[in-house]
Amino acid sequence: MVKGRRVLLGVTGSIAAYKAVEIARGLVKKGALVQTVMTASACRFVTPLTFAAVTGQPVFTNEIDFTENGEMSHISLAAQSDLVIVAPATANIIGKAAGGIADDLLSTLLLVARPPILMAPAMNCRMYEHPAVQKNIETLRTRGIEMEGPCSGDLACGEEGSGRMADPSDIIARAEAMLAQSGDLAGRIIMVTAGPTREPLDPVRFISNRSSGKMGYAIAEAAVRRGARVILVSGPVSLPQPSGLEAYDTVTTAAEMHDAVMGRLGGADALIMAAAVSDYSPDQPAAKKIKKQDDTLAVTLQKNPDILAEVGKRRKRPLLIGFAAETENLEKNAREKCRSKKLDLIVANDVSKPGIGFDSDDNEALLLSASGDATPLPRMSKSRMADAILDKIAILLQSTRS
Ligand code: PMT
Repeated sequence: MVKGRRVLLGVTGSIAAYKAVEIARGLVKKGALVQTVMTASACRFVTPLTFAAVTGQPVFTNEIDFTENGEMSHISLAAQSDLVIVAPATANIIGKAAGGIADDLLSTLLLVARPPILMAPAMNCRMYEHPAVQKNIETLRTRGIEMEGPCSGDLACGEEGSGRMADPSDIIARAEAMLAQSGDLAGRIIMVTAGPTREPLDPVRFISNRSSGKMGYAIAEAAVRRGARVILVSGPVSLPQPSGLEAYDTVTTAAEMHDAVMGRLGGADALIMAAAVSDYSPDQPAAKKIKKQDDTLAVTLQKNPDILAEVGKRRKRPLLIGFAAETENLEKNAREKCRSKKLDLIVANDVSKPGIGFDSDDNEALLLSASGDATPLPRMSKSRMADAILDKIAILLQSTRS
């Protein structure tokens, strides 16, 4: 997840410095707070004012000074960053970082910063191929510093070969992936269910509901952005498969959803059931299309397995998050579901309200925890609500770990 993350962008003296402006702009567009540190020679290629204008933040140049809080800028800048990018990274900064030399703000900061750190080398091809540079890059790699590029092509010096800084869009994509791995759900396995189930009456008819899958898919996408390994079990919906999933199972009936969830639950840290699972299904679906005959038709329904309740009974179980789709007594009914299914958290949505709940882009809910807290989530997009729900889940996961 890039939104709200702090990225420190180190710019060194190369003709590619102008492309760093594009990196800063791309990250800011995605919601990152970008702070720029420029070396003295970088300032000869692009002015600090350009980065200040693009990022909306003051730019740090070579001076090691004190911030408003009295902290030394190199310590606080490094400590507050979620990711450090050096782009372009000259042979000089790569050598200084590998050798532990700290003779200006950026090189000093690289001694203080801890990974994730990303460098995008840019230099003449013969410089890049020099054994000293290759060794320095290898040294940095072994310390966990990642490299994006360089690419091959025409170089500013007129030669052709490997040494061009990677494309800004590739650097941004790599930064996004690195931020995702270091997100607040990094390493967590989160299973999400989404959409409706369909219970067949005969080969062409079924009982179902109006769930579009939007809420569950938004949660799956947000969890991926925040670094989780996400398993999405989806009922029949017409949404594209989100990218970055660990696994994606599509099912039709409640029984199939039950089996898919149970089959993959081992190792999961959290199960988020946003799916609208049918409580009942026809006990004997007809093998052939039911013919129109009498004025009335009786169908016997049997209870489907309650997936959440079953997982809730396990001694060793993941964090359990349910949804409650209610049309009356929202909090009372949701609390009862939370208690009876032994959930840690329930998202109660009043599906009788227009514009929220089933098949809409927005939702409004009451987030109720087993311990009794109630957090109202006012009407917002499902994608924002997904992050609000995951904020709470991240805290709960943190407290169960410690
Ligand atoms: O898909 P959208 O169009 O975006 O709409 C989102 C939504 C309204 C479907 C979603 O926000 C929602 O409320 N999902 C749960 C709907 C529902 O089935 O609620 P329920 O109160 O019937 O079930 C309570 C919980 O038990 C749910 O988490 C459900 O997934 C789970 N359940 C229900 C039945 C069953 N047999 N097994 C279950 O695990």
